[in-house]
Amino acid sequence: MTPRTQIDREALEQYVGRVTGGIAAGLNCAISSLGDKLGLYEALHSLRMASSQELADKTGLSERWLREWLRHQACMQQIEYDAESDRFYLSPEAVAVLLDTKHPAYFGGGFESATASFDSLPGLVNSFHSGIGFSYDDHGPGCASGIERMSRYFNENTLVPNVLPLLDGVAEKLQQGALVADVGCGGGVATLAMAQSFPNSQFVGYDISEHALARARDHLDTIDATNIRFVNPLDEMMPAEPTYDLITTFDVIHDAAHPQPLLNSIHQALRDDGTYLCEDIRSFPSFQKNLEEHPLAGLLYGFSIMVCMSSSLSTADGAGLGTLGFNEEVAREMTSAAGFSRFARLDYDNPMNNYYEVRK
Ligand SMILES: C[S@@+](CC[C@H](N)C(=O)[O-])C[C@H]1O[C@@H](n2cnc3c(N)ncnc32)[C@H](O)[C@@H]1O
Repeated sequence: MTPRTQIDREALEQYVGRVTGGIAAGLNCAISSLGDKLGLYEALHSLRMASSQELADKTGLSERWLREWLRHQACMQQIEYDAESDRFYLSPEAVAVLLDTKHPAYFGGGFESATASFDSLPGLVNSFHSGIGFSYDDHGPGCASGIERMSRYFNENTLVPNVLPLLDGVAEKLQQGALVADVGCGGGVATLAMAQSFPNSQFVGYDISEHALARARDHLDTIDATNIRFVNPLDEMMPAEPTYDLITTFDVIHDAAHPQPLLNSIHQALRDDGTYLCEDIRSFPSFQKNLEEHPLAGLLYGFSIMVCMSSSLSTADGAGLGTLGFNEEVAREMTSAAGFSRFARLDYDNPMNNYYEVRK
């Protein structure tokens, strides 16, 4: 097709609307992260309804700044406004998405992990020249914290009761006593959930992010469990001989600088009768389909540039798969190249991720 060259007035208006909406969304991300950090959503919810002065009295913060924040959040439709009483409040949907860590729609860590990556913006200009991105730890502790919060609902509430039982014979093995590695464990929420549910089994969480490992070890200190260790594979590599009955990766392979060697090492470390459970971002093999049919494609390409692809390109020879780059087709090819012969997508519906049962 030949691109249009004449301006169409209606299209121009719509385009301006999209651009100003995009700028407002960027500002909203930063301003919502302030509310998240300062506990403003929680404080507002605890008051049920509040004027800026009442929120200031509750939090001890400046009324003028709170007034502007509340007005901004109401205009962005993230909080509600009652004109009669000049008060603000959270809808039940806002509570589910922003505050309730036990709700499947919870996305509270999103603002934190997105804004943690904003510091890399000046450096990203150079990345477009050099090709080199930023590791997870380059973003500071906020990135590990935000990601942990975003994935917490699944890792804490769904993995053990709904996904592990879909794997052939795995739950039984874990009941009896098995060896498990959670590779790219992040803050260890999934590792801890599995270890607490299966006390006869032993768990090792591996991660190259020291910020994530520090969080995982802090969480471990708060519970009474002796069947978990968290290690950095740069200090203690995965065993080169078949050792583990179950190896898991939850949203890790697309982030890895060297995903094929990582899959090879998972294959090596897995026992012949073991299972590799791989969770990774749901996407289509073609960009056109992602563009036309993936409802989260814009968000995911955004996270890719700021966090995931950047991390995967943080070394000169990084693969740079990108957030949407480890789709089912690629996962089948790369696990097969690692030596696995069986691959099945689990029958578990999740808008963000696919789940694969991979075996030798
Ligand atoms: C998106 S986070 C997911 C963390 C956690 N699994 C979760 O579900 O919250 C990806 C994690 O993979 C880790 N990672 C990337 N490459 C890795 C590698 N080669 N070995 C171990 N961890 C790795 C990163 O440091 C990061 O903590």
